[in-house]
Amino acid sequence: MAETANQQSRPRVLSGMRPTGKLHLGNYMGALHNWVRLQETGKYESYHFVADLHALTTDYEDPSNILPNTREVALDFLAAGLDPKRTTIFVQSHVAQHFELPLYLGMITPVGWLERVPSYKDMQENLAEKDLSMYGFLGYPVLMASDILLYQASFVPVGQDQQAHVELTREVARRFNNFYPRPEARNVGDILRAAQVDPLYVLPEPQVLLTPSPKLPGTDGRKMSKSYGNTIMITDPEPVVRAKLKTMVTDPARIRRTDPGDPDKCPVGDLHKVFSTPETMAKVYEGCRSAGIGCIECKGWAADALVQILNPIQERRARFTDDEVSDILRDGASRAGARAEQTMCEVRAAMQLTGSRE
Ligand code: TRP
Ligand code: SF4
Repeated sequence: MAETANQQSRPRVLSGMRPTGKLHLGNYMGALHNWVRLQETGKYESYHFVADLHALTTDYEDPSNILPNTREVALDFLAAGLDPKRTTIFVQSHVAQHFELPLYLGMITPVGWLERVPSYKDMQENLAEKDLSMYGFLGYPVLMASDILLYQASFVPVGQDQQAHVELTREVARRFNNFYPRPEARNVGDILRAAQVDPLYVLPEPQVLLTPSPKLPGTDGRKMSKSYGNTIMITDPEPVVRAKLKTMVTDPARIRRTDPGDPDKCPVGDLHKVFSTPETMAKVYEGCRSAGIGCIECKGWAADALVQILNPIQERRARFTDDEVSDILRDGASRAGARAEQTMCEVRAAMQLTGSRE
């Protein structure tokens, strides 16, 4: 059978991240941590990339930060434990096929679909200081659909904010498959035979793997976000982590040391829930509700838990030299490119274009 290679390979997982600069704990828990977990199962062939082209859709006027941020984010991938031997790690713009597929998919994606993606209007409103009435920005979801479909990925681990994009990817794939059946399925008489070929379609519809997103508050109690300036960075050294925790807001009902509090109403309590052991959690609940512990002590425990998570990440981060990162990204781009080209050959053949570059 022609498709044995496909049947033998593991399902592919793909996800990317825009290069917004060094990552904070919220980015780590919301994405990277989950990618590393998927890698550790050994059940998937993983592809993870820095989406520098997506950054260009909003930063086109001044792209000077994109390159340095791309390096930082790639380093954070490695620091978090993505292993270049087991996972293909690359930069989107290093793989030429990421420029080709969006052009083809753009031909079949109705503008109305793009205008209806919720993030389209949201981003225009949130970034009102930028003129986002651009063709490229409207096409953001086409670029993202291409990222996913290029690898014929089965699973896309993302946060809820990206779910609509994966939905659109499925719709674009369906439309592509309707317009452009595999060459062997082009004649109606061949469809039955083709139905036994797996996969039947050139572009399989990917499934979203929703990242469990624990509530991760920033130091001011709001959602941790770069734009609020309330973040704990994954590169923050221990004294900085401890100092930030000291300023963190607590249960507003606990004004004096003798007032009992409630960890369920306290951002520090929320941090404990994500990072502390059940034993520490029990001490927090009991001590807070009985006013047996003070907030300073409680924050110290939360800082201990954070430092324990961050230490190995920071140690790994410090071990990679610039040259090593460059080598890893070069190797990643070549592996990703080879896989992407396989899909593109099928895409070009289905679209009755050249079929192959050879
Ligand atoms: N749009 C995603 C974000 O803002 C980044 C991204 C680009 C992505 N291409 C992707 C995520 C493909 C998953 C799959 O976070
Ligand atoms: Fe929050 Fe801990 Fe203080 Fe309770 S003791 S209010 S959980 S910081």
